[in-house]
Amino acid sequence: MTKQPLSSLDEWEDDLLRRYPAQGNQPVDTLAADTLAVNTERFRNYDAEARPGVKEFYRLNHQYQTLAFVRQKRQQYLTLDKRQMGIWEAMEYLNTLIDDSDPDIDLPQIEHLLQTAEAIRHANRPRWYILAGLIHDLGKILCLWDEPQWAVVGDTFPVGCRYSEKIVFYDAFRANPDFNDPQLQTEAGIYESGCGLDQVLMSWGHDEYLYHVVKDYMPPPALYMIRYHSCYPIHREQAYQQLMNDRDREMFVWVNDFNQYDLYTKRDQRMDVTALRPFYEDLISEFFPEKIRW
Ligand SMILES: [Fe+2]
Ligand SMILES: [Fe+2]
Repeated sequence: MTKQPLSSLDEWEDDLLRRYPAQGNQPVDTLAADTLAVNTERFRNYDAEARPGVKEFYRLNHQYQTLAFVRQKRQQYLTLDKRQMGIWEAMEYLNTLIDDSDPDIDLPQIEHLLQTAEAIRHANRPRWYILAGLIHDLGKILCLWDEPQWAVVGDTFPVGCRYSEKIVFYDAFRANPDFNDPQLQTEAGIYESGCGLDQVLMSWGHDEYLYHVVKDYMPPPALYMIRYHSCYPIHREQAYQQLMNDRDREMFVWVNDFNQYDLYTKRDQRMDVTALRPFYEDLISEFFPEKIRW
């Protein structure tokens, strides 16, 4: 099968909606034990019904996201010497991404960003929160630099320690070389228990990349949202508690809160990009200089 099994990047997010159907509009703070049991059952049904492209996507992701791969990508990208762009410019650049999606069904990338930001704005959240919504997926420009889908989107998880069985399609990790390295498969792996997620290398994708691009400009809760919004194993499944510290737990309340806007914003509602632009250019200039390094 192809190295790009999803018809568009959005197919992964659409699939998340099947795995995590909206439960009213409540932010999911912590899952009670009985909710977890229901979750396990739901996961099983989900595995059985997932679309072939989605399954193949996770197969590649789980096989190739190794500690060595993550280290290599960090070396390649975290020097931030690919481009200099302003935030709105990066939004337009991301919008040039054309995949095999159906233009009648899938919205331009810029509209998902605006939808998320607008939902947060209408909920009267702080300005930095609206801005976090606006930029949270800009790391997907990695696709424009020929990164495969499995290294841009998908649920993220720590590497260098045992893969949690709560990660979707867990069995696909058996083909990952790290899976068979006993030193990398202990509870804490190369880390110390309770060391805090900042010490932990996450699987490579749009979240981690964007975090490094914007880390000097946004307040801590926004940075947590940006860095961990795809980490469903932690913010939805409560895995990897052994690596987290108190600050992480405090900040993950924000990550969880953000998820409602990212996942459950009405996707077919069109955005008037031109009309919204002045408000958002203003907001961007409150936090960012004209150009930043990518
Ligand atoms: Fe995302
Ligand atoms: Fe998103």
